Amino acid sequence: MFPLDSSKKLSFNRLISEGDLVITYERHDNMKAVKVCEGSTLQNRFGVFKHSDWIGKPFGTKVFSNKGGFIYLLAPTPELWTLVLSHRTQILYIADISFVIMFLELVPGCVVLESGTGSGSLSTSLARAVAPTGHVYTFDFHEQRAASAREDFEKTGLSSLVTVGVRDIQGEGFPNEFSGMADAVFLDLPQPWLAIPSVAKMLRHDGIVCSFSPCIEQVQRSCETLRSNFTDIRTFEVLLRTYEVREVKMDSYQGKEEGDDGVSVGAPPCKRRQRSNDSSNLLENQRSSIPMARPCMEAKGHTGYLTFARLRCLS
Ligand SMILES: C[S@@+](CC[C@H](N)C(=O)[O-])C[C@H]1O[C@@H](n2cnc3c(N)ncnc32)[C@H](O)[C@@H]1O
Repeated sequence: MFPLDSSKKLSFNRLISEGDLVITYERHDNMKAVKVCEGSTLQNRFGVFKHSDWIGKPFGTKVFSNKGGFIYLLAPTPELWTLVLSHRTQILYIADISFVIMFLELVPGCVVLESGTGSGSLSTSLARAVAPTGHVYTFDFHEQRAASAREDFEKTGLSSLVTVGVRDIQGEGFPNEFSGMADAVFLDLPQPWLAIPSVAKMLRHDGIVCSFSPCIEQVQRSCETLRSNFTDIRTFEVLLRTYEVREVKMDSYQGKEEGDDGVSVGAPPCKRRQRSNDSSNLLENQRSSIPMARPCMEAKGHTGYLTFARLRCLS
């Protein structure tokens, strides 16, 4: 997941080996994490794929099944892992994650504290942001979830960058051994305000905390608590709009257009179809393609609010 070669240098040219985790890509909404195992096969609607055909190929390779169907073998990045991991809890998705990494000002070498670990979706991106010299210490009070997250970090090759602890962070706070050591703290807890006094102890001078909460009442309570030790308190809601951009065929002068898949789609909201008396032009217009762009229907709406604050320096 974090492609380091034996000399700890970044290397993106690694070939697929026995035991590697690969993301098998059919479409952007149909991917799977698969551990490569010489004698195994992957079976899907396109046929049977032998893992032995994958070994020695570069990540990104298109491989074929016994029936001529194909998939791509992608390297397991945090972006893809977030889309294929097993959901043991609600998770953070790419729009919120990107915003968190940027606003927590994470760079290689940073020390980050996190709670709760949940399914490890955010932890995976935190780990890559601080690698190769930083570390993520993540805590969850649910033993089984912590154990599953640990297993996942082993699988994705991140275990040297992430340590998972079992602890009630709302009740006990973060362990004292991290006092003044954290560059950033991230909270995804039901009552984050209970953990904020401990966060203030853990952060280095001017370190940053981020708290993710689905409800605005949680945000209001957190902000109230943050005011005693923190400054620059800001809350964001990250809304992502995905667009579908493609060519559509006009199947009648007045009415509908036909998409690549032959399905009629609504008219685009742009300037188009000027009236003409020339009948050949009219025919041409009837079947010509026009570009269309429209927001995807299944775009995600509200996920939660992200509240950031910087520890106030005393002098
Ligand atoms: C929504 S999940 C976190 C998801 C995570 N951010 C991700 O992206 O995968 C919230 C987690 O907080 C944990 N949790 C709740 N209360 C806690 C507490 N007092 N101390 C530690 N963990 C807690 C839950 O067990 C749960 O796993």
